Amino acid sequence: MNLSDPPPVQPVARPSAIRGLSVLLAGGSGGLGAAAAEYLIKDGARLHVSYSHDRERAQALEPIATLHRADLVEAVDRKRLLDESGPLYGLVVFVGNPARVSESLSFEDTLRQSIDVNFAGPLLLAREAAARMKGKGTRGAIVLLSSMQAVQLVVGSTPYATAKAALSFGARILAKECRGGTDIRVNVVAPGVMDAGMAQASIASGKYRRYLDEDVIPRYGRATDVARVVRFLLEPDCYITGQVIAVDGGLSL
Ligand SMILES: NC(=O)c1ccc[n+]([C@@H]2O[C@H](COP(=O)([O-])OP(=O)(O)OC[C@H]3O[C@@H](n4cnc5c(N)ncnc54)[C@H](OP(=O)(O)O)[C@@H]3O)[C@@H](O)[C@H]2O)c1
Repeated sequence: MNLSDPPPVQPVARPSAIRGLSVLLAGGSGGLGAAAAEYLIKDGARLHVSYSHDRERAQALEPIATLHRADLVEAVDRKRLLDESGPLYGLVVFVGNPARVSESLSFEDTLRQSIDVNFAGPLLLAREAAARMKGKGTRGAIVLLSSMQAVQLVVGSTPYATAKAALSFGARILAKECRGGTDIRVNVVAPGVMDAGMAQASIASGKYRRYLDEDVIPRYGRATDVARVVRFLLEPDCYITGQVIAVDGGLSL
């Protein structure tokens, strides 16, 4: 076996206190969300998963989660998603879009769309979920997905990276606003180049190959690398809030 590329850690069941608690994975039908769903279902969580357009991909999770369709950019969809999910202990927002400028989408349009999908929609959902938790006086854990590109300066990443940086900052303010009183924790996971979901095509095209060739990272990340951190941050006795945790193999150092 090549020591630099150990096998993925399987989602073995843990005697976790999350058993029976309700967790919504918004955008959980994607590459990173589906792996987190596998971990959380093993721990006995009651899962809700949302998608926006790709119902077929989401249906793969139908045996383990209640599915909801919701476009987080739309206030009415966010409200319906929270209404349909019922009282939540946990919320993880995987919703995101790579926000690549193309011939059909100008820089300005890409930037504006990215702010909606990668920042405003996820943060508003998190704030709305936190308000419901506070209103009910229940404890809760919220995790938002940012990116190492929100930390490292990557040329050409402005629409995606600035929206993700704003999301990290907004999440930390929300964590502070939730401090005290009921126990609601808010954290951010910032993945690097993961061989799953939205980065898969870029990896296949060789865009990130130099990170391996120049020994910047030992391997591409896996969806399970993120899933393990999400699971940890959701544990009811977790003592962490207001933090941005990079899961990037050192890429952003
Ligand atoms: N994969 C990586 O290497 C990587 C690296 C750094 C950060 N991230 C971040 O990690 C998160 C998950 O990434 P992923 O790779 O799992 O992405 P993915 O496979 O593309 O999944 C994205 C998810 O978001 C949903 N979504 C997209 N636009 C939406 C909208 N307007 N409203 C509601 N849902 C919407 C998608 O639903 P549909 O499929 O139905 O449209 C899907 O469930 C993202 O926030 C991403 O920015 C990923």
